[in-house]
Amino acid sequence: MRADNRSLFRALDVTDHARLRVLMLVSEAVPFSKTGGLADVSSALSVSIAKLGHAVTVILPRYRESDGVGKAAGRCVVRVGGLAYDVGLFEASLGDGVRAVLLDCPSLYDRDGLYGDSQGEYSDNPIRFSVLVRAALDLAAGAELAPSVIHAHDWQAGLAPVYLSARVPKYRCLQATASVLTIHNLAYQGTFSENCLDTIGLSGDPSLRGAMKHGAGVSFLKGGIVLSDAVTTVSPRYAEEIVGVELGRGLDASLRSRGTRLTGILNGVDDAVWNPESDPFLPMPFSTVNLGGKLAAKRAMLQRYGLPTDDVALARPVVGMVSRLVPQKGLDLIVEVADELLALDLAFVVLGTGRAEYQDLWRELSARHPDRVGAYIGFDEERAHLIEGGADLFLMPSRYEPCGLNQMYSLRYGTVPIVRATGGLADTVEPYNGTTGKGNGFAFRDYSGAALLASLQEALTLFKDRDAWRRLQIAGMSQDNSWSVSAREYVKVYRKACNDAEKRVSGSGEQQGIGSAAADIRPV
Ligand code: ADP
Ligand code: GLC
Repeated sequence: MRADNRSLFRALDVTDHARLRVLMLVSEAVPFSKTGGLADVSSALSVSIAKLGHAVTVILPRYRESDGVGKAAGRCVVRVGGLAYDVGLFEASLGDGVRAVLLDCPSLYDRDGLYGDSQGEYSDNPIRFSVLVRAALDLAAGAELAPSVIHAHDWQAGLAPVYLSARVPKYRCLQATASVLTIHNLAYQGTFSENCLDTIGLSGDPSLRGAMKHGAGVSFLKGGIVLSDAVTTVSPRYAEEIVGVELGRGLDASLRSRGTRLTGILNGVDDAVWNPESDPFLPMPFSTVNLGGKLAAKRAMLQRYGLPTDDVALARPVVGMVSRLVPQKGLDLIVEVADELLALDLAFVVLGTGRAEYQDLWRELSARHPDRVGAYIGFDEERAHLIEGGADLFLMPSRYEPCGLNQMYSLRYGTVPIVRATGGLADTVEPYNGTTGKGNGFAFRDYSGAALLASLQEALTLFKDRDAWRRLQIAGMSQDNSWSVSAREYVKVYRKACNDAEKRVSGSGEQQGIGSAAADIRPV
């Protein structure tokens, strides 16, 4: 067996200049691993970019939950901060035309969680994710054709532009490779004490230290923001919000400094996975022309949750929620008005995991209203699909939301979203206008329980008008949130970043290496 790192992009005739060679670096991707929307997006985006004719390879860790995935394709030794990590390379198909390389290093990745466990975040996360980045760059540097673009996602891959700027001799062949960073959630910044720079082999360069410096420590995300050729985030509205102090999380100045190099591109819906016409988790398909299957989905969902399925229960509006149970998702508002919410004639069906206090909230509400509140604490793909298909309304009262996928899935499934108008929720949900009849959902501005309640009451009133409700459902189901449009936007960003990288190379002087960052790949 040989380490097949020379042909990273072998799917196409990639010497064709019109075709880009894209190396995606990400910490999770469906179907291998998932904690949230990042996994859906990294996967669907890669496939959509490949569909446009570009060669895409995705590199990610091989966690315990991806055990058994892929075919052994070689090994490499990755040196980070004076230590050597023996990494197995496993190859798998991620979807149409996209090759994934999973990095197998049990001492780093074979654990209960992706980023942490019940005790908190793993303390060696700086090492775990610098090994991800270094392994990817080593592979890229050893490839026959260098990538045109390295596309890094979130703080876990934020070191890619940093190492590329670190003047490592063996990365000299990647000088013309552009780097693009996508921020999926600015709240997660990968901030560690400054000492960690020693452990990841980056302590020698004061300019890199400066780029990463953040408060009393250093941030992997900030390094990526400052040093990449282009930065994107996952909705136009969030791109506007994060350059302000309120949602900038202390990185607003760095983001502002990128000017037009920061753009917002809306996520899409992966039609192969989230489509009521072909969803294997639904009892029967449905579409805009035949919504009958939605009632069957409602019945199946109520049954799955052990809730009544008599005529009264089937006629009662059901509000669905599928969410990480964290403060971002607006659960404080539910706490604030829980009694008033349950005084309304509705039922809740909830799926989520996260903070103990929010898990307890839903468990208690379910114990108090066993006929009207179904709560499942856990991660469950089937239930997520049943809720999208079977609920009448979908609630996302987020405090902030970079994009949000579930409101788009809801639109696709004729499940009317009620959202707080922030970030991607504001970009995708157009509030119903009683005068013109336009809109596809309900939205409130103030982050308050009263505003949420008022929006919900407005929705419940309209729910009684079956024709108006049907029109609202169909407006949502007809909205085009497919990936093809967004993938084209990413390609535009890639091309601009490639131009910038070329200019940078033609204007750059001699590069100097930093010895501690040396690494080595060996075929086996
Ligand atoms: P975020 O990434 O902030 O959690 P998104 O709306 O972008 O929010 O994406 C969440 C994704 O994770 C969706 O695909 C959603 O269905 C899924 N998800 C979240 N919680 C669960 C859960 N408990 N069980 C199954 N899927 C879940
Ligand atoms: C993050 C954000 C979410 C976004 C997802 C995928 O988890 O919280 O809003 O949809 O990333 O980009």
